[in-house]
Amino acid sequence: MKTLRDAAIENKTVLLRADFNVTVSRGAVTEDFRMRAALPTIQYVLTHGAKKVLVISHFGRPAEGKPNSAFSLAPVGRHLSSLLNKEIDFVDDCIGENVRSRIKESKKRVIVLENLRFYKGEEENDTQFAKSLAALGDIFVQDAFGAAHRAHASIVGVPKFLPSYAGFLFEKEVRWLSSVLKNPVRPLAALIGGAKISTKMPVIEKFLKFADNVCLGGALANTVLKAKGVAVGKSLVEEEMVEKMKNFEYTDARLHLPVDIKVAKDKDAADGISIKGVGNVGDEELILDIGPDTQDLFSNIVHRSKTIIWNGPMGYLENKRFAEGTRRIAKELGNVPPHVCTIVGGGDTYLTLADVGVMDRISFVSTGGGAMLDFLAKGTLPGIEALG
Ligand code: 3PG
Repeated sequence: MKTLRDAAIENKTVLLRADFNVTVSRGAVTEDFRMRAALPTIQYVLTHGAKKVLVISHFGRPAEGKPNSAFSLAPVGRHLSSLLNKEIDFVDDCIGENVRSRIKESKKRVIVLENLRFYKGEEENDTQFAKSLAALGDIFVQDAFGAAHRAHASIVGVPKFLPSYAGFLFEKEVRWLSSVLKNPVRPLAALIGGAKISTKMPVIEKFLKFADNVCLGGALANTVLKAKGVAVGKSLVEEEMVEKMKNFEYTDARLHLPVDIKVAKDKDAADGISIKGVGNVGDEELILDIGPDTQDLFSNIVHRSKTIIWNGPMGYLENKRFAEGTRRIAKELGNVPPHVCTIVGGGDTYLTLADVGVMDRISFVSTGGGAMLDFLAKGTLPGIEALG
Protein backbone atom coordinates (compact mmCIF):
# COMPACT_ATOMS: atom_id res chain seq x y z
CA MET A 1 0.00 0.00 0.00
CA LYS A 2 1.53 3.31 -1.11
CA THR A 3 1.18 6.06 1.43
CA LEU A 4 1.10 9.82 1.33
CA ARG A 5 4.86 9.92 1.97
CA ASP A 6 5.38 8.31 -1.47
CA ALA A 7 3.32 10.96 -3.26
CA ALA A 8 4.58 13.94 -5.26
CA ILE A 9 2.23 16.63 -4.03
CA GLU A 10 3.82 19.92 -5.12
CA ASN A 11 1.42 21.88 -7.32
CA LYS A 12 -1.04 19.00 -7.53
CA THR A 13 -4.77 19.07 -6.97
CA VAL A 14 -5.31 16.40 -4.35
CA LEU A 15 -8.63 14.56 -4.22
CA LEU A 16 -8.92 13.50 -0.59
CA ARG A 17 -11.54 10.96 0.51
CA ALA A 18 -12.29 11.47 4.19
CA ASP A 19 -14.92 9.87 6.41
CA PHE A 20 -16.65 12.98 7.70
CA ASN A 21 -19.76 11.05 8.63
CA VAL A 22 -19.94 12.81 11.99
CA THR A 23 -22.75 13.95 14.27
CA VAL A 24 -24.47 17.15 13.19
CA SER A 25 -27.27 18.82 15.08
CA ARG A 26 -29.06 22.04 14.06
CA GLY A 27 -26.49 22.83 11.42
CA ALA A 28 -23.42 22.34 13.62
CA VAL A 29 -21.01 19.46 14.12
CA THR A 30 -21.45 18.18 17.67
CA GLU A 31 -18.93 15.31 17.63
CA ASP A 32 -15.80 15.65 15.51
CA PHE A 33 -13.45 12.82 16.46
CA ARG A 34 -13.18 11.57 12.87
CA MET A 35 -12.55 15.07 11.55
CA ARG A 36 -9.75 15.74 14.01
CA ALA A 37 -8.23 12.37 13.17
CA ALA A 38 -8.00 13.39 9.49
CA LEU A 39 -6.30 16.75 10.13
CA PRO A 40 -2.66 15.52 9.96
CA THR A 41 -3.26 14.30 6.40
CA ILE A 42 -4.86 17.58 5.28
CA GLN A 43 -2.15 19.63 6.97
CA TYR A 44 0.62 17.54 5.42
CA VAL A 45 -0.84 17.96 1.95
CA LEU A 46 -1.12 21.72 2.46
CA THR A 47 2.40 22.15 3.81
CA HIS A 48 3.84 20.03 0.98
CA GLY A 49 2.72 22.45 -1.67
CA ALA A 50 -0.55 21.03 -2.97
CA LYS A 51 -2.30 23.50 -5.26
CA LYS A 52 -5.68 22.51 -3.87
CA VAL A 53 -7.18 19.88 -1.58
CA LEU A 54 -10.63 18.69 -2.61
CA VAL A 55 -12.22 16.92 0.34
CA ILE A 56 -14.89 14.37 -0.55
CA SER A 57 -17.00 12.35 1.89
CA HIS A 58 -20.35 10.70 2.40
CA PHE A 59 -22.64 11.85 5.16
CA GLY A 60 -25.52 9.77 6.53
CA ARG A 61 -27.70 7.65 4.31
CA PRO A 62 -29.78 9.91 2.06
CA ALA A 63 -32.57 7.85 0.51
CA GLU A 64 -32.36 6.74 -3.13
CA GLY A 65 -29.06 8.49 -3.82
CA LYS A 66 -30.74 11.88 -4.22
CA PRO A 67 -29.78 15.34 -2.93
CA ASN A 68 -31.36 16.05 0.44
CA SER A 69 -30.46 19.19 2.38
CA ALA A 70 -30.72 17.31 5.68
CA PHE A 71 -27.60 15.42 4.61
CA SER A 72 -25.56 18.34 3.30
CA LEU A 73 -21.87 18.48 4.15
CA ALA A 74 -22.05 22.28 4.48
CA PRO A 75 -21.89 22.19 8.33
CA VAL A 76 -18.92 19.85 8.09
CA GLY A 77 -17.21 22.33 5.75
CA ARG A 78 -17.73 25.14 8.28
CA HIS A 79 -16.38 22.98 11.05
CA LEU A 80 -13.33 21.97 9.03
CA SER A 81 -12.61 25.63 8.44
CA SER A 82 -12.56 26.24 12.18
CA LEU A 83 -10.44 23.16 12.90
CA LEU A 84 -7.88 24.22 10.28
CA ASN A 85 -8.20 27.85 11.30
CA LYS A 86 -8.39 28.64 7.63
CA GLU A 87 -10.99 29.88 5.20
CA ILE A 88 -12.22 27.16 2.91
CA ASP A 89 -14.79 26.89 0.12
CA PHE A 90 -17.80 24.62 0.01
CA VAL A 91 -19.20 23.52 -3.35
CA ASP A 92 -22.76 22.22 -3.26
CA ASP A 93 -22.17 19.35 -5.70
CA CYS A 94 -19.40 16.83 -6.20
CA ILE A 95 -19.07 16.13 -9.95
CA GLY A 96 -19.55 17.89 -13.28
CA GLU A 97 -18.55 20.97 -15.23
CA ASN A 98 -20.00 23.42 -12.74
CA VAL A 99 -17.96 21.86 -9.93
CA ARG A 100 -14.82 21.98 -12.07
CA SER A 101 -15.22 25.65 -12.81
CA ARG A 102 -16.06 26.49 -9.18
CA ILE A 103 -12.85 24.71 -8.14
CA LYS A 104 -10.87 26.56 -10.80
CA GLU A 105 -12.24 29.94 -9.76
CA SER A 106 -11.83 29.34 -6.03
CA LYS A 107 -9.06 31.27 -4.29
CA LYS A 108 -9.09 28.83 -1.37
CA ARG A 109 -6.74 25.87 -1.10
CA VAL A 110 -9.20 23.64 0.75
CA ILE A 111 -12.55 22.92 -0.88
CA VAL A 112 -15.17 20.60 0.58
CA LEU A 113 -17.51 19.06 -1.99
CA GLU A 114 -21.10 18.02 -1.35
CA ASN A 115 -22.15 14.58 -0.07
CA LEU A 116 -21.11 11.79 -2.45
CA ARG A 117 -24.28 9.87 -1.62
CA PHE A 118 -26.35 12.49 -3.40
CA TYR A 119 -25.53 10.35 -6.43
CA LYS A 120 -26.62 6.72 -6.76
CA GLY A 121 -23.36 6.05 -8.55
CA GLU A 122 -21.46 6.32 -5.27
CA GLU A 123 -23.02 3.32 -3.53
CA GLU A 124 -23.46 1.44 -6.81
CA ASN A 125 -19.76 1.90 -7.57
CA ASP A 126 -20.65 3.26 -10.98
CA THR A 127 -17.60 3.55 -13.22
CA GLN A 128 -18.72 6.80 -14.81
CA PHE A 129 -19.29 8.40 -11.39
CA ALA A 130 -15.83 7.26 -10.23
CA LYS A 131 -14.29 8.69 -13.43
CA SER A 132 -16.07 12.01 -12.90
CA LEU A 133 -14.69 12.22 -9.37
CA ALA A 134 -11.21 11.26 -10.51
CA ALA A 135 -11.34 13.94 -13.23
CA LEU A 136 -11.31 16.61 -10.51
CA GLY A 137 -7.84 15.83 -9.16
CA ASP A 138 -4.29 14.87 -10.12
CA ILE A 139 -3.76 12.39 -7.31
CA PHE A 140 -6.08 10.56 -4.88
CA VAL A 141 -5.53 10.23 -1.14
CA GLN A 142 -7.64 7.68 0.71
CA ASP A 143 -8.09 8.58 4.37
CA ALA A 144 -11.64 7.30 4.94
CA PHE A 145 -10.82 4.21 6.96
CA GLY A 146 -14.32 4.28 8.52
CA ALA A 147 -15.84 3.69 5.07
CA ALA A 148 -13.18 1.34 3.68
CA HIS A 149 -15.47 -1.68 4.14
CA ARG A 150 -17.84 -0.24 1.51
CA ALA A 151 -17.12 -1.15 -2.12
CA HIS A 152 -18.34 2.28 -3.23
CA ALA A 153 -17.10 4.44 -6.10
CA SER A 154 -15.04 6.79 -3.93
CA ILE A 155 -13.45 3.81 -2.17
CA VAL A 156 -12.74 1.24 -4.87
CA GLY A 157 -13.58 3.05 -8.13
CA VAL A 158 -11.49 6.23 -8.04
CA PRO A 159 -8.12 4.45 -7.41
CA LYS A 160 -8.51 2.83 -10.84
CA PHE A 161 -8.20 6.25 -12.47
CA LEU A 162 -5.67 8.20 -10.38
CA PRO A 163 -2.33 7.57 -8.68
CA SER A 164 -3.61 6.66 -5.21
CA TYR A 165 -2.13 6.75 -1.72
CA ALA A 166 -3.24 5.95 1.79
CA GLY A 167 -3.50 8.98 4.07
CA PHE A 168 -1.94 8.99 7.52
CA LEU A 169 -5.14 8.08 9.36
CA PHE A 170 -5.82 5.19 7.02
CA GLU A 171 -2.26 3.95 7.38
CA LYS A 172 -2.37 4.24 11.17
CA GLU A 173 -5.65 2.31 11.39
CA VAL A 174 -4.32 -0.52 9.25
CA ARG A 175 -1.08 -0.67 11.25
CA TRP A 176 -2.75 -0.81 14.67
CA LEU A 177 -5.49 -3.24 13.73
CA SER A 178 -3.02 -5.47 11.86
CA SER A 179 -0.89 -5.63 14.99
CA VAL A 180 -3.77 -7.33 16.81
CA LEU A 181 -4.13 -9.93 14.07
CA LYS A 182 -0.45 -10.53 13.36
CA ASN A 183 1.36 -10.62 16.62
CA PRO A 184 -0.73 -9.71 19.64
CA VAL A 185 0.93 -9.74 23.04
CA ARG A 186 -1.09 -12.35 24.93
CA PRO A 187 -3.38 -12.85 26.70
CA LEU A 188 -5.63 -11.25 24.11
CA ALA A 189 -9.19 -10.31 25.07
CA ALA A 190 -12.01 -9.17 22.78
CA LEU A 191 -15.01 -7.38 24.27
CA ILE A 192 -17.87 -7.16 21.84
CA GLY A 193 -21.14 -5.37 22.53
CA GLY A 194 -23.81 -3.55 20.54
CA ALA A 195 -27.16 -4.53 19.17
CA LYS A 196 -26.66 -6.83 16.24
CA ILE A 197 -25.11 -10.26 16.49
CA SER A 198 -25.62 -10.70 12.72
CA THR A 199 -23.07 -7.99 11.85
CA LYS A 200 -20.64 -9.01 14.60
CA MET A 201 -20.77 -12.78 14.13
CA PRO A 202 -17.76 -12.95 11.75
CA VAL A 203 -15.53 -11.11 14.21
CA ILE A 204 -16.83 -13.10 17.19
CA GLU A 205 -16.13 -16.37 15.38
CA LYS A 206 -12.68 -15.15 14.40
CA PHE A 207 -11.81 -14.17 17.97
CA LEU A 208 -13.20 -17.39 19.43
CA LYS A 209 -10.54 -19.20 17.38
CA PHE A 210 -7.82 -16.70 18.01
CA ALA A 211 -8.26 -14.70 21.25
CA ASP A 212 -7.76 -15.98 24.79
CA ASN A 213 -11.05 -14.51 26.02
CA VAL A 214 -14.17 -13.22 24.28
CA CYS A 215 -16.71 -11.25 26.35
CA LEU A 216 -20.14 -10.54 24.88
CA GLY A 217 -22.48 -7.85 26.20
CA GLY A 218 -25.15 -5.48 24.93
CA ALA A 219 -28.26 -6.58 23.10
CA LEU A 220 -26.30 -8.99 20.93
CA ALA A 221 -25.75 -11.14 24.02
CA ASN A 222 -29.56 -11.40 24.37
CA THR A 223 -29.71 -13.25 21.06
CA VAL A 224 -26.97 -15.60 22.21
CA LEU A 225 -28.72 -16.19 25.55
CA LYS A 226 -32.03 -16.90 23.83
CA ALA A 227 -30.41 -19.34 21.41
CA LYS A 228 -28.89 -21.05 24.45
CA GLY A 229 -32.42 -21.51 25.83
CA VAL A 230 -32.26 -18.79 28.50
CA ALA A 231 -35.42 -16.70 29.08
CA VAL A 232 -34.89 -13.12 27.92
CA GLY A 233 -38.46 -11.75 28.32
CA LYS A 234 -39.12 -8.90 25.92
CA SER A 235 -35.46 -8.05 25.36
CA LEU A 236 -34.22 -6.90 21.97
CA VAL A 237 -33.32 -10.07 20.09
CA GLU A 238 -32.48 -10.79 16.45
CA GLU A 239 -35.03 -13.57 16.01
CA GLU A 240 -33.68 -14.64 12.62
CA MET A 241 -30.30 -15.30 14.25
CA VAL A 242 -31.62 -17.42 17.13
CA GLU A 243 -31.96 -20.58 15.02
CA LYS A 244 -28.56 -20.02 13.39
CA MET A 245 -26.94 -19.56 16.79
CA LYS A 246 -28.14 -22.94 18.09
CA ASN A 247 -24.92 -24.64 16.99
CA PHE A 248 -22.72 -22.01 18.58
CA GLU A 249 -19.93 -23.35 20.80
CA TYR A 250 -21.34 -22.24 24.18
CA THR A 251 -19.04 -24.49 26.19
CA ASP A 252 -15.90 -22.82 24.85
CA ALA A 253 -14.03 -21.75 27.99
CA ARG A 254 -12.92 -18.57 26.23
CA LEU A 255 -16.50 -17.36 25.77
CA HIS A 256 -17.93 -15.17 28.54
CA LEU A 257 -21.60 -14.19 28.55
CA PRO A 258 -23.36 -11.98 31.10
CA VAL A 259 -23.99 -13.73 34.41
CA ASP A 260 -26.24 -10.98 35.74
CA ILE A 261 -28.15 -8.20 34.05
CA LYS A 262 -30.05 -5.01 34.70
CA VAL A 263 -33.71 -5.26 33.71
CA ALA A 264 -36.77 -3.02 33.50
CA LYS A 265 -40.17 -3.13 31.83
CA ASP A 266 -39.36 -0.20 29.58
CA LYS A 267 -36.10 1.00 28.02
CA ASP A 268 -36.91 4.58 29.05
CA ALA A 269 -37.62 3.52 32.64
CA ALA A 270 -36.59 5.80 35.50
CA ASP A 271 -37.67 3.31 38.18
CA GLY A 272 -38.62 -0.34 38.50
CA ILE A 273 -35.06 -1.23 37.51
CA SER A 274 -33.50 -4.32 39.08
CA ILE A 275 -30.44 -6.53 38.90
CA LYS A 276 -31.16 -10.18 38.22
CA GLY A 277 -29.19 -13.32 37.61
CA VAL A 278 -29.29 -14.48 34.01
CA GLY A 279 -32.21 -16.86 33.71
CA ASN A 280 -34.47 -14.89 36.04
CA VAL A 281 -35.78 -12.36 33.54
CA GLY A 282 -39.57 -11.99 33.77
CA ASP A 283 -41.82 -12.32 30.69
CA GLU A 284 -42.52 -8.58 30.66
CA GLU A 285 -38.94 -7.47 31.30
CA LEU A 286 -36.12 -6.33 29.03
CA ILE A 287 -32.39 -6.81 29.54
CA LEU A 288 -30.87 -3.32 29.27
CA ASP A 289 -27.36 -3.55 30.73
CA ILE A 290 -24.85 -5.97 32.17
CA GLY A 291 -25.02 -6.34 35.96
CA PRO A 292 -22.25 -5.69 38.53
CA ASP A 293 -21.02 -9.31 38.64
CA THR A 294 -20.64 -9.30 34.86
CA GLN A 295 -18.84 -5.96 35.08
CA ASP A 296 -16.43 -7.55 37.58
CA LEU A 297 -15.99 -10.63 35.42
CA PHE A 298 -15.20 -8.60 32.29
CA SER A 299 -12.98 -6.19 34.29
CA ASN A 300 -10.94 -9.08 35.69
CA ILE A 301 -10.40 -10.34 32.16
CA VAL A 302 -9.34 -6.84 31.09
CA HIS A 303 -6.76 -6.70 33.90
CA ARG A 304 -5.44 -10.20 33.11
CA SER A 305 -4.86 -9.32 29.46
CA LYS A 306 -1.97 -7.71 27.61
CA THR A 307 -3.97 -6.82 24.51
CA ILE A 308 -7.64 -5.79 24.67
CA ILE A 309 -9.89 -4.95 21.79
CA TRP A 310 -13.32 -3.47 22.46
CA ASN A 311 -16.20 -2.59 20.14
CA GLY A 312 -19.80 -1.86 21.07
CA PRO A 313 -21.73 -0.79 24.17
CA MET A 314 -22.67 -3.21 26.94
CA GLY A 315 -26.12 -1.73 27.47
CA TYR A 316 -28.77 0.71 26.25
CA LEU A 317 -26.78 3.96 26.38
CA GLU A 318 -29.65 6.24 25.40
CA ASN A 319 -30.89 5.91 29.00
CA LYS A 320 -28.08 6.82 31.40
CA ARG A 321 -29.43 4.31 33.93
CA PHE A 322 -28.29 1.58 31.58
CA ALA A 323 -24.92 3.10 30.68
CA GLU A 324 -23.14 1.86 33.81
CA GLY A 325 -21.78 -1.37 32.30
CA THR A 326 -20.30 0.45 29.31
CA ARG A 327 -18.86 3.20 31.50
CA ARG A 328 -17.27 0.69 33.84
CA ILE A 329 -15.55 -1.11 30.95
CA ALA A 330 -14.32 2.25 29.61
CA LYS A 331 -12.90 3.14 33.04
CA GLU A 332 -11.17 -0.23 33.41
CA LEU A 333 -9.56 0.11 29.99
CA GLY A 334 -8.37 3.55 30.99
CA ASN A 335 -6.84 2.02 34.11
CA VAL A 336 -4.60 -0.67 32.68
CA PRO A 337 -0.82 -0.13 32.87
CA PRO A 338 0.70 1.73 29.90
CA HIS A 339 2.42 -1.37 28.44
CA VAL A 340 -0.96 -3.05 27.91
CA CYS A 341 -2.33 -2.48 24.42
CA THR A 342 -5.93 -1.24 24.32
CA ILE A 343 -7.76 -0.75 21.04
CA VAL A 344 -11.30 0.60 20.93
CA GLY A 345 -13.64 1.34 18.04
CA GLY A 346 -17.25 2.12 17.20
CA GLY A 347 -19.06 5.44 17.66
CA ASP A 348 -20.91 4.75 20.92
CA THR A 349 -17.86 3.10 22.37
CA TYR A 350 -15.49 6.00 21.82
CA LEU A 351 -18.10 8.52 22.94
CA THR A 352 -18.18 6.71 26.27
CA LEU A 353 -14.37 6.87 26.48
CA ALA A 354 -14.57 10.63 26.00
CA ASP A 355 -17.39 10.87 28.50
CA VAL A 356 -15.51 9.11 31.30
CA GLY A 357 -12.32 11.03 30.41
CA VAL A 358 -10.07 8.14 29.37
CA MET A 359 -9.78 8.75 25.62
CA ASP A 360 -6.08 9.64 25.85
CA ARG A 361 -5.31 6.60 28.01
CA ILE A 362 -6.30 4.19 25.25
CA SER A 363 -3.47 2.96 23.00
CA PHE A 364 -5.50 3.41 19.84
CA VAL A 365 -9.06 4.59 19.23
CA SER A 366 -10.24 3.55 15.78
CA THR A 367 -12.45 5.83 13.69
CA GLY A 368 -14.03 2.73 12.21
CA GLY A 369 -17.12 0.93 13.44
CA GLY A 370 -18.13 -1.57 10.76
CA ALA A 371 -14.77 -1.08 9.03
CA MET A 372 -12.85 -2.06 12.14
CA LEU A 373 -14.97 -5.19 12.64
CA ASP A 374 -14.68 -6.24 9.00
CA PHE A 375 -10.94 -5.69 9.04
CA LEU A 376 -10.53 -7.77 12.18
CA ALA A 377 -12.72 -10.54 10.75
CA LYS A 378 -11.11 -10.68 7.30
CA GLY A 379 -7.69 -9.06 7.65
CA THR A 380 -8.37 -6.69 4.76
CA LEU A 381 -11.03 -4.37 3.31
CA PRO A 382 -12.16 -3.34 -0.19
CA GLY A 383 -10.59 0.09 0.36
CA ILE A 384 -7.21 -1.45 1.21
CA GLU A 385 -7.28 -3.83 -1.75
CA ALA A 386 -8.13 -0.93 -4.07
CA LEU A 387 -4.90 0.84 -3.11
CA GLY A 388 -2.94 -2.20 -4.33
C1 3PG B 1 -19.66 4.70 9.54
O1 3PG B 1 -20.22 5.64 10.14
O2 3PG B 1 -19.49 3.57 10.08
C2 3PG B 1 -19.06 4.96 8.20
O3 3PG B 1 -19.03 6.32 7.91
C3 3PG B 1 -19.80 4.19 7.14
O4 3PG B 1 -21.12 4.64 7.04
P1 3PG B 1 -22.25 3.69 6.45
O5 3PG B 1 -22.46 2.59 7.45
O6 3PG B 1 -23.46 4.55 6.26
O7 3PG B 1 -21.73 3.12 5.15
